[in-house]
Amino acid sequence: MKICLVTPARSGSRTGNRVTALRWTRLLRQLGHRVTLTDEYRAGPWDLLIALHARRSHAAVERFARERPGAPIIVGMAGTDLYEDLPDSVEAQRSLALATRIVVLQADGVRALPEALQPRARVIFQSARAPAPDGTATQPDRATFDVLVLAHLREVKDPLLAARAARALPAASRLRVLLAGGAHTDADLAAARVEAAENPRLTLLGELARQDALTQLARAELLVVTSRLEGGANAVSEALAAGVPVLSTRIGGSVGMLGDDYPGLFPVGDAAALAALLARCETDPHFLAELAARCELLRPLVDPARERRAWRRLLLELTPPADNARYRLIVAPGTAAPTDGAPPPELLADVAAGLAARPRRLPCRWLYDDEGSLLFEEICELAEYHIPRAEHAILGRHAPELASRLGPTLRVVELGAGNAHKTRVILRALAARGTRVEYVPVDLSRRALEETAAALLADDPALTITAVAADYEAALDQLDSDSTAATLLLFLGSNIGNLDRAGASAFLTRIAARLRPGDHLLLGADLRASAALLVPAYDDARGVTARFNRNLLVRLNAELGADFDPAAFDHRATYDELAGRIDMWLVARRALTCRVPRLGLTVEFTAGEALHTESSWKHSLTELDALAASAGLAVVERWTDDRSRFCDILLAR
Ligand code: AVJ
Repeated sequence: MKICLVTPARSGSRTGNRVTALRWTRLLRQLGHRVTLTDEYRAGPWDLLIALHARRSHAAVERFARERPGAPIIVGMAGTDLYEDLPDSVEAQRSLALATRIVVLQADGVRALPEALQPRARVIFQSARAPAPDGTATQPDRATFDVLVLAHLREVKDPLLAARAARALPAASRLRVLLAGGAHTDADLAAARVEAAENPRLTLLGELARQDALTQLARAELLVVTSRLEGGANAVSEALAAGVPVLSTRIGGSVGMLGDDYPGLFPVGDAAALAALLARCETDPHFLAELAARCELLRPLVDPARERRAWRRLLLELTPPADNARYRLIVAPGTAAPTDGAPPPELLADVAAGLAARPRRLPCRWLYDDEGSLLFEEICELAEYHIPRAEHAILGRHAPELASRLGPTLRVVELGAGNAHKTRVILRALAARGTRVEYVPVDLSRRALEETAAALLADDPALTITAVAADYEAALDQLDSDSTAATLLLFLGSNIGNLDRAGASAFLTRIAARLRPGDHLLLGADLRASAALLVPAYDDARGVTARFNRNLLVRLNAELGADFDPAAFDHRATYDELAGRIDMWLVARRALTCRVPRLGLTVEFTAGEALHTESSWKHSLTELDALAASAGLAVVERWTDDRSRFCDILLAR
């Protein structure tokens, strides 16, 4: 999409609005959109207007609505527009009336909107990156207990409150208040200087460059937010990302992020209450640790990947592929959750059988619901998970050659399409040759299909898409359709790895039976490697794979009313080097009793008992050749990456 992003915060300013606008611009560009960031709206070929600050961007909203009637408008609620302007400002109200969607920065923002507007509101937490450790971040044995206030010296930020609170601390206290932020008026600056001159606990750092502010934050014991009003403080996101606990005024913007029961909240303007909290943080390590633990739990909220996903979902809502004449969706029976909310019978059967087995096991297909497939996409961005990068490199290099082997009209069927990131490389190479393509992505997640389709349709004006929500078996029937075009069947990303060797051979045999002369199968397979190389790919440092794995339990709880405590299970990945197989497990930390009411089942886990959730088989090049041969397929071409980690192999009957 061509997006115009309007913010009243001028370039060069360091206000939260500017920071947010820049971050949104970056994320939207990563999602493949063309974004123009401006502080002054100009007419242009925009598909979408994003206006930050309902009141101050109101002129842009009105003009856009007039110039491009029907085009979507997203209004981002920055803070004052939401908590101050809205009741009285006709301009803010007009902006919201014209908005297709309203973005608020934390959960309280929805409640702050008039009820009639709430259905249009979406919460998108502001993300922040953890600062790179620079070695100076932690100095043990400090002489001081430093707390940081990151705020412009403006009345609404109440910037001197922490300093005034610190005056009340006993002489023995080592507490210092570091105040980082510039002043807008001479009076504000003078007031800060007077306080600093009288109050030895206050140090003015002045306006810091962003990087320096983050360094100060990483060194601080606490971030203190004293604002009387915030839409959602960037500084809180930054503190969460940096692992620095927060004290904050009890305002919507902070409550909506930290939670109503967060123990570090105090009333607006209440220096005495803040002094008590500061004293407690300095002298009671348990309390400080509790704050830190609470903040740690919130850290995933400020993950940039999460903010990017939230934006992708939102933009998808604005352009549902269902409206596109080049798109249709086929849902195979048994794939979609029936509308009456009953769980699919296959899930019930698998859970009943799998929990009775020893070792207990659940088929991996249930990992890939909408949330699971989003988490898998996050896995695909991990440094440890080599598969997508290796395959992308292979396809990037060889897609033109692949395209040159195929006819002028082609049906590209992809099993387990996901976000079809790598597929784009192939589709682009085909488009470059003028090949007419119908793309048939098959996936278990409807949401993944729709997002992928929306992106690809926008990418290529000639492409048609038939999305199929189905498992692989049901999808194979799709190959029997009456299409006369030759088929390129894609089975990429080592999705074959979920099948054991006999299963893989049987599956390829069934595929082979459906391939006609001129049809091809492109199979991507992860190659055998040492445990040292492979295990981290399935047990990453950030714990994304662990979340992916535990999501299975979350799903069982949601769909079967089960009461698994996901936090009571450890994620584990093991590699059987002889077999060439990674296994993923969920290991009970202690003895557990779990109920699955839908099945009338009570399951006892002993401490340390492991539930098997996924296998990922690895292949040698020889094994791949043998696999193809066993299915009666001939190798047309074989490509590997520079490091010989991955292989894409083109097969035909
Ligand atoms: C989707 C089966 C290709 O085995 O590498 C990755 C699944 N699970 N990390 C793989 C997976 C955890 C992935 N496949």
